[in-house]
Amino acid sequence: MTSPWHTHFESLTKQVTTVPIVAAGKLVRGIGLTLEAVGCQLPVGSQCLVQTIEGEIEAEVVGFGDDITYLMPTEAVRGIVPGSRVMPLSRQSGLPVGMSLLGRVVDGNGQPLDGLGEIEAEHRAPTTRPPMNPLIRRPINAAMDVGVRAINALNTVGVGQRMGLFAGSGVGKSVLLGMMTRGCEADVVVVGLVGERGREVKEFIHDILTEEERKRAVVVAAPADTSPLMRLKGCETAMTIAEYFRDKGLKVLLLIDSLTRYAMAQREIALAVGEPPATRGYPPSVFARLPALVERAGNGSEKQGSITAFFTVLTEGDDLQDPVADAARAILDGHVVLSRSLADSGHYPAIDIESSISRVMPQVVSEEHQLMARRIRQVYSHYKQNQDLISIGAYAKGSDPRIDLAIRAEPAINAFLQQGMKQVLPYDESLEGMAALAKGLGQGQ
Ligand SMILES: Nc1ncnc2c1ncn2[C@@H]1O[C@H](COP(=O)(O)OP(=O)(O)O)[C@@H](O)[C@H]1O
Ligand SMILES: [Mg+2]
Repeated sequence: MTSPWHTHFESLTKQVTTVPIVAAGKLVRGIGLTLEAVGCQLPVGSQCLVQTIEGEIEAEVVGFGDDITYLMPTEAVRGIVPGSRVMPLSRQSGLPVGMSLLGRVVDGNGQPLDGLGEIEAEHRAPTTRPPMNPLIRRPINAAMDVGVRAINALNTVGVGQRMGLFAGSGVGKSVLLGMMTRGCEADVVVVGLVGERGREVKEFIHDILTEEERKRAVVVAAPADTSPLMRLKGCETAMTIAEYFRDKGLKVLLLIDSLTRYAMAQREIALAVGEPPATRGYPPSVFARLPALVERAGNGSEKQGSITAFFTVLTEGDDLQDPVADAARAILDGHVVLSRSLADSGHYPAIDIESSISRVMPQVVSEEHQLMARRIRQVYSHYKQNQDLISIGAYAKGSDPRIDLAIRAEPAINAFLQQGMKQVLPYDESLEGMAALAKGLGQGQ
């Protein structure tokens, strides 16, 4: 609790609270998502109250220009009139964090959604942090058991790694995240459900997790119908909670669904305050925020724990040029790609092992593991490359021993890659299965 980081943050928080808040202001314009006020002098990121004819609503300062302050409401806008008073809201800054978050469901501000009462806060943590000095981070050198065989064996994830989960909609992202929440070997699982349908949040909590599994999980929910500010904060709140547990020395798995919705929320806000769009409608601030968020995950210093993270990225229509997918690929240490054609054929989890890669795998597995994984990928790839020929009967058996082997091995490989929704396959078991499978594949050329 008294790490140099904390002292540093405390001094930062103090600086923020001592900024002189000069005056209350009044609304002059309200167009689209933002409200414009004059007369208030509030720091960007601070909270304020806007008086309405029915009461008051909360808003946050998102920018300024000349003498205008841009505000974005954090709740539904109703009853606002020109000239409405804008008052600074003096509230303790930071997010309430504590061990009592375990088993809870909170919103983007860290407020309980589950009706189980207030969160007992140990302290308040700032939701944005300066980047960690990369030299004090522990290196990634151990494998993380995620409870999914295709990942454990062929795309091994390291403790403290940041992975992407790339997929279109409806191909099994949520189910896969649920499988990992259940089956991973972690002390705490923090799940950020951001910008997805509200129904999914309920399903995730009630259908996918049992009561016992919920005890080590914290769910942060900011579904699609919340304001863009709440969606943006949802991801940052999930990250801050994960950091809290990491700083306690715990092994955390952080699952964010989805990073694309986070980028979209920032785009909505930035465009509303007049930032010019650059890449495919995304303003530059989006591409500054993505790495700032992603970089916060990872291993901590020697005394801290770790955050292993999965960020889902939507790739609609297999659009590889999507700027968010492009940016995510560059800042993450690997990605698992889910394929629609596999999902359509009933192959679940629909992991496309040919396009998935874990960049830290060589650092965390044995040479033998690496060789077996490569061999399985090779044979699978041979099958896939010749699948069209094979399926129309144009391949004559015996003309290429590699293809013959691929045809023989294909059912076993496919069975190995599949896993039921409720099934948990631990790391050791995944490795045993892989060894048995690789034995039948020989050395390869
Ligand atoms: N491992 C699995 N086993 C069986 N069916 C699955 C599996 N994973 C996904 N599915 C099917 O795919 C559907 C969509 O999955 P979902 O995770 O909701 O997709 P997404 O989050 O990508 O939109 C599920 O309702 C389920 O029928
Ligand atoms: Mg989903």
